[in-house]
Amino acid sequence: MAIIFAFNGIEAACAAHPTADVFINFASYRSAAASSMSALKQPTIRVVAIIAEGVPESDTKQLIAYARSNNKVVIGPATVGGIQAGAFKIGDTAGTIDNIVHCKLYRPGSVGFVSKSGGMSNEMYNTIARVTDGIYEGIAIGGDVFPGSTLSDHILRFNNIPQVKMMVVLGELGGRDEYSLVEALKQGKVNKPVVAWVSGTCARLFKSEVQFGHAGAKSGGEMESAQAKNQALREAGAVVPTSYEALEATIKETFEQLVEEGKITPVKEVKPPQIPEDLNSAIKSGKVRAPTHIISTISDDRGEEPCYAGVPMSSIVEQGLGVGDVISLLWFKRSLPRYCTKFIEICIMLCADHGPCVSGAHNTIVTARAGKDLVSSLVSGLLTIGPRFGGAIDDAARYFKDAYDRGLTPYEFVESMKKKGIRVPGIGHRIKRGDNRDKRVELLQLFARTNFPSVKYMEYAVQVETYTLSKANNLVLNVDGAIGSLFLDLLAGSGMFTKQEIDEIVEIGYLNGLFVLARSIGLIGHTFDQKRLKQPLYRHPWEDVLYTK
Ligand code: ACO
Ligand code: LMR
Repeated sequence: MAIIFAFNGIEAACAAHPTADVFINFASYRSAAASSMSALKQPTIRVVAIIAEGVPESDTKQLIAYARSNNKVVIGPATVGGIQAGAFKIGDTAGTIDNIVHCKLYRPGSVGFVSKSGGMSNEMYNTIARVTDGIYEGIAIGGDVFPGSTLSDHILRFNNIPQVKMMVVLGELGGRDEYSLVEALKQGKVNKPVVAWVSGTCARLFKSEVQFGHAGAKSGGEMESAQAKNQALREAGAVVPTSYEALEATIKETFEQLVEEGKITPVKEVKPPQIPEDLNSAIKSGKVRAPTHIISTISDDRGEEPCYAGVPMSSIVEQGLGVGDVISLLWFKRSLPRYCTKFIEICIMLCADHGPCVSGAHNTIVTARAGKDLVSSLVSGLLTIGPRFGGAIDDAARYFKDAYDRGLTPYEFVESMKKKGIRVPGIGHRIKRGDNRDKRVELLQLFARTNFPSVKYMEYAVQVETYTLSKANNLVLNVDGAIGSLFLDLLAGSGMFTKQEIDEIVEIGYLNGLFVLARSIGLIGHTFDQKRLKQPLYRHPWEDVLYTK
């Protein structure tokens, strides 16, 4: 479990955690120097590791000077950090958890390792694990020209750690850092075997001076060449192989000799702690089936492009399909014939708006004028959609289907509804009359009569209307009733739905969705209209209210 604390500044963090003495600075090269200096100034901080590459050299020099005079250590800049095997690691050193286990870094061994290069240190952790009992501590000092701590700083430190029995050093061409180690060896300050290799011997193959990956890795004069440094280390007493390829064997021999001499008792192997497998990779490799919290059957966005019911978006566009087809895919999970999707589109177009006075638009207008945003104004209008206004399509389909399928005459149907005290959904309108028909109903009927194989449910609804109109002139088949009955004809006549599927669509109630979707277009328009007109807060006039007791 990782616990992350966030603090407002280094001082506050150090005050809250006075026992923390290593500060790992992941700041970029732009701010690493300033933040590292402020960390070095905290009395509790002993070591500062600077990960960023490209920290200005003059800034690094100041950090080094400050650290030295205050008996503190800077690791880096441009370092991947370090690791104390089995204890903790700094930065990204040693790579992934799998690599750490592979390199036996989960428990301390007998080898102290220091390298300039971070990438190569990961390689060396592996090499050392293969031929010794493993790393005790490994540090990458970083590839800058002026590293905060030097190879010899760490070798001298390792020399004083009893658990470290031998040291491995990986230098590189450029700079003179390795010579401080040569000096330390010559002065007899190091009494444990040091296996060393300075990489970059290939630089001689190039005609001109070559800058390698690190800022410090370029051979200046002869002294800075890998060959010269390898030779100097060899002469000072380090065990230096003849090539990098021979380094592994050299480490092996040195280690085995120490074992033979009884100076190393190889640490006992322990079972690495069980590491939980990363869920994503386990799912990918098919090893686990994680419980899902959501099921989706209508669209999938995991591929190159989202698919609606298996149809890629690009194919919808390429085929010139319309919003009716998209609704057909996302609501009904199938590609309906063109006359069906056209019918859906006509429903959307005809129900998009019906002026400012109807319930939905009125609410939206009032809300927009109260200064509310688009979504609030829209949903305020949408919330009026229900059994009396725009939301009678599903009930109309339910009752007409039931009555028709049971073979009720319009008289029996309407009278049975009356007995139950239920108004016939899809019948009646505030404005429309027998002699002032709703144009939308006429247009839908015309389209269906021309294109649908059968309009039996709609004809039944018309017969119901004939009966209700005989009772009152406002009891016309309204737009909800027309859509409800015609959608029954679409579902039954298209041959694309089973009987159960039709029952399910009617039961769940898909069809009010057509009005909701359509009317959103108008309600959004009304919101923009009010905002554009900068309409003030709406207040209903007193004269329009009957105040009574
Ligand atoms: N079925 C049976 N009788 C009805 C119906 C109906 N659908 N609608 C009205 N009536 C009767 C009333 O019972 C009333 O009779 P009464 O005077 O004997 O009591 C008479 O007709 C007048 O009723 P009102 O409530 O005054 O009619 P109003 O014009 O206010 O109602 C409304 C309009 C709300 C649409 C109504 O007809 C109704 O509830 N219809 C069913 C729901 C419906 O289809 N809504 C969708 C409308 S379209 C749209 O919003 C896009
Ligand atoms: C509409 O579509 O909003 C109308 O049919 C409702 C109304 O009251 O006119």
